[in-house]
Amino acid sequence: MNIKARITGLSSYLPESVLSNRDLEKMVDTSDEWILTRTGIKERRIARSDEYSSSMGFEASKKALIEARLNADELDMILVATMTPDYISPSTAALIQSKLQAEKAAACDLQAACTGFIYALSVAKAYVESGIYNHVLVVASDKMSSLVDYKDRNTCVLFGDGAVAAVVSNTGDGLAIDAVCLGADGNLAELLMVPAGGSKQPATEETVSQGLHYLKMAGKEVFKHAVRRMGFAANESLKKAGLTKDDISWVIPHQANLRIIDAIGMHLSIPSDKIYKTLHKFGNTSGSSVGIALHHLIEEKGLSKDERVLMVAFGAGLTWGSLILTKL
Ligand code: ACO
Repeated sequence: MNIKARITGLSSYLPESVLSNRDLEKMVDTSDEWILTRTGIKERRIARSDEYSSSMGFEASKKALIEARLNADELDMILVATMTPDYISPSTAALIQSKLQAEKAAACDLQAACTGFIYALSVAKAYVESGIYNHVLVVASDKMSSLVDYKDRNTCVLFGDGAVAAVVSNTGDGLAIDAVCLGADGNLAELLMVPAGGSKQPATEETVSQGLHYLKMAGKEVFKHAVRRMGFAANESLKKAGLTKDDISWVIPHQANLRIIDAIGMHLSIPSDKIYKTLHKFGNTSGSSVGIALHHLIEEKGLSKDERVLMVAFGAGLTWGSLILTKL
């Protein structure tokens, strides 16, 4: 019998504190007008000093498990997509496993930057559909404010903090996961990277004083690749599923920049009212961005049986990915 992986519980967590464009005007040489017209972002959420990727992921996970009507001790695996782990080691997944008391669950992290949620969902799908595991918890959580240089106007206006959690199971109501398309191009790694703090350049007084532990981005180049790769991935998913854009109720692209989102809409000939956006409120929350938007879409609009959502993301690596969710 064919097993079909589906999301049976979904929730997100956003920190309370709001950092507005006006607040940023006081920190760097920027303006509300520049940020809004160049990115579409009005405000973003910033985690407290005692909130981390694990605690935000834990908050989202508790609610996702309630929605899935699953006890934490029934989880077989916890997979966390993050580029801002609490520690280099141990994994953030192990910390969430402990907080949830998910004693039976294996736990590990996955790094695909802003494409993390889609990559992790695809891994969960493979575990479930191969029959290896029945219930996998997928979390995407990032405290981007811990990686961003609030003196660099090129990056600090873009990012926010947040988390999403999805229970992926082999039975139950929910959203079937299909038509996964993933890609990467490590030749372009330098366009978007955190140069120091890893094994190549361990943190030293010098790397810290040079700010090499902050995220560096070649914005214009990344912009071009984001449009091209997300357009490609979305089309590949449609082809794989044997569908056209008319079969899709909603498109959720990575919430990085409204101009990128508009360009993808043009590329796919999808009208803007079918593209769901949260970036004006939350900015780019990295891997969790498409998942947070999916959760808010379901809360705000609901999904009827057989409605389909196309999710597509892009991030450091470079990485990109796309998949189609169908309401069961
Ligand atoms: N306020 C005011 N001026 C600014 C700001 C700011 N916050 N940021 C940059 N500028 C200036 C630049 O210094 C530059 O000035 P100059 O011409 O005097 O040198 C000018 O604005 C134009 O800069 P550009 O980089 O050309 O601006 P652009 O229109 O490309 O927008 C942006 C920059 C918003 C970063 C855009 O390139 C972008 O969104 N890139 C893609 C980001 C993305 O998709 N990331 C996804 C992955 S993220 C991940 O994986 C972690």
